[in-house]
Amino acid sequence: MKKKVVLAYSGGLDTSVIIKWLAQRDYEIIAYCADVGQGDDFDLVKKKAIKTGAKKVYVGNLQKEFVEDVCFKALKANALYEDKYPLATAMTRPIIAKGMVEVAHKEGAKYIAHGCTGKGNDQVRLEVTARCLDSKLDIIAPVREWELTTRESEIDYAKKHGIPVEVTKKKIYSIDRSLWGISIEGGKLEDPQVEPPQDIYQMTKSIDKTPNKPEYIEIAFDKGIPVAIGGKKYSPIELVKKLHKIGGDHGIGRIDMIEDRLVGIKSREIYEAPAATILIEAHKALEYLTLDRASLKFKAQVAIDYARLIYDGLWYTPLKHALDAFIDKTQEKVTGIVRVKLYKGHATVVGRKSENSLYKEELATYSEGDKFDQSLSKGFIELFGLPYRDSMKNEKRKK
Ligand code: ARG
Repeated sequence: MKKKVVLAYSGGLDTSVIIKWLAQRDYEIIAYCADVGQGDDFDLVKKKAIKTGAKKVYVGNLQKEFVEDVCFKALKANALYEDKYPLATAMTRPIIAKGMVEVAHKEGAKYIAHGCTGKGNDQVRLEVTARCLDSKLDIIAPVREWELTTRESEIDYAKKHGIPVEVTKKKIYSIDRSLWGISIEGGKLEDPQVEPPQDIYQMTKSIDKTPNKPEYIEIAFDKGIPVAIGGKKYSPIELVKKLHKIGGDHGIGRIDMIEDRLVGIKSREIYEAPAATILIEAHKALEYLTLDRASLKFKAQVAIDYARLIYDGLWYTPLKHALDAFIDKTQEKVTGIVRVKLYKGHATVVGRKSENSLYKEELATYSEGDKFDQSLSKGFIELFGLPYRDSMKNEKRKK
């Protein structure tokens, strides 16, 4: 009997070649195509999988789960890897792996295969998640072990086996898209000195093409979750798409960074994530209004670790779940409306309000109605400064 394997299949060259490669090694291939909002034509992808030699194809409709249970959790955390990357690719891999494990169980498959390289993060994310969910499944990563080490040898192999090869821009750059954003790497971008060519961008306009007038939007949050724009309610998927569109039109959400991969190398990455950029700014602004300062400080530290857990593919792990409990507790008060100005690549918060606001005008004002008792400050400062009194007296001070 043939060995059954569930293969993460995109319809691209690598995973198509993998179908043939596995078939030659006597595997029965079940292709798993994950829909995380990358906008592929899945009927076409399905047909291609079967034509190339897959026995069966599953399409995992993960869009809703991805936005609601994954992206919005990252938003509540304000998760940005190395201060910049909204994790659009990183967040998809755990739920893709979960979908594959489910199909493997349903089909009685003992193997899971993917087309990730041995130099990237995605292999780690897929495999660690599969291990977390079922450590008995064996993993096959052909790209890490096969003889097709150059693009040319892969194309030759594809041609020999009747796999159609398209040479498009997608092939010059490695592009990965999800509902949360786009990741672009490779080609000229591998030189960190080189400015990204305009034509790599797919969701965002360059600044010289954006409107010369700012646009204002009001985003309503309910317990940390964005629910409406300009008073109109949107489903999570529609809300994210809408912000991609408006933000992209203003050139918002382009990110150019050098990033540290889990496997130890630095890489040049370009991202487009208009919705994530706007939402995280707006969400943070509402937290500044509604959370006390100790919670804000602690939560900002949690955000760094939370982003790293996502980046490292540790979504289905105990610490991640424990941090979710903390984050959800903080979000109970994060309800309100944030006004954001979109203009020339920037999303700037210009107003915020909340029924849970901790801002007290009678304490902050410099005008009529001030209730702050300034006489208390004298004693407060005495005690606050007490531990440091004279502590620098005999130090030589630099001018
Ligand atoms: N460096 C990013 C990450 O690790 C993007 C990876 C892009 N993946 C890809 N298959 N093109 O999350």
